[in-house]
Amino acid sequence: MTELDRGELMILPDSAALASEAARRFVALAQAAVADHGRFTVALSGGSTPRALHACLARPPLSESVDWANVHVFWGDERMVPLDDIESSYRMARETLLAHVPISAANIYPVPTIGGTPEAAASAYEETITAVFGTDSPRFDLILLGIGPDGHTASLFPGQPEVVRPSNALVVAVHNAPKPPPTRITCTYKLINAAANVLFLVAGADKAAVLREVLRGPADLARLPAQGVRPERGALVWLADAAAAKELS
Ligand code: 6PG
Repeated sequence: MTELDRGELMILPDSAALASEAARRFVALAQAAVADHGRFTVALSGGSTPRALHACLARPPLSESVDWANVHVFWGDERMVPLDDIESSYRMARETLLAHVPISAANIYPVPTIGGTPEAAASAYEETITAVFGTDSPRFDLILLGIGPDGHTASLFPGQPEVVRPSNALVVAVHNAPKPPPTRITCTYKLINAAANVLFLVAGADKAAVLREVLRGPADLARLPAQGVRPERGALVWLADAAAAKELS
């Protein structure tokens, strides 16, 4: 068994407490990043779990604790649908967070999901990221991630090419994703593992088995892509509610 750096695990009583703790950490990291280098770069996650986090950040006191003018928002993955589609992670973030805080539209970087192939969208997004960071080795201050019952994270799914043979790209196209919509783009391990902070949010009993496998089971990255998240020079934190953590000793 290859010992992985499994990161720090914090178990919260319920999903509301998990969202509050995640929001508290988001604010603390944002304040520290702006103080340290003048801006906070964050990649949001799709799915349902982040909604409660966004709600905490979208209202006082936390909404007033972030210097939104210096926050730059990206996505760790996105579905290849129009930005106003109900399945769009951008739309979810806009409705639950971005429309409620004084962030400049110029500092919000949605994935260009319309008008081209998924591969073109991935390349364009990679160019956007490297341009905003001013380097080919971007280091996000924070990347937020979820995990699926099958062990996927972002849009890195079991058995998919980028999981089985990680590339040197920062963003890639995903086809035939088992979680609909099937066509996506995703940040790669190379980009994720360069981050200063990676924060997994895991809530609900349906995640209990996979969380045990990912954190306590043998290394099997092709089957459990979330195990491939190991920031080289960054902090890895798992926030789980009691329901998701119930199979962890
Ligand atoms: C997506 C996400 C995906 C998500 C997990 C967990 O596009 O849906 O990027 O990786 O984080 O599937 O989703 P839930 O939070 O809905 O359980």
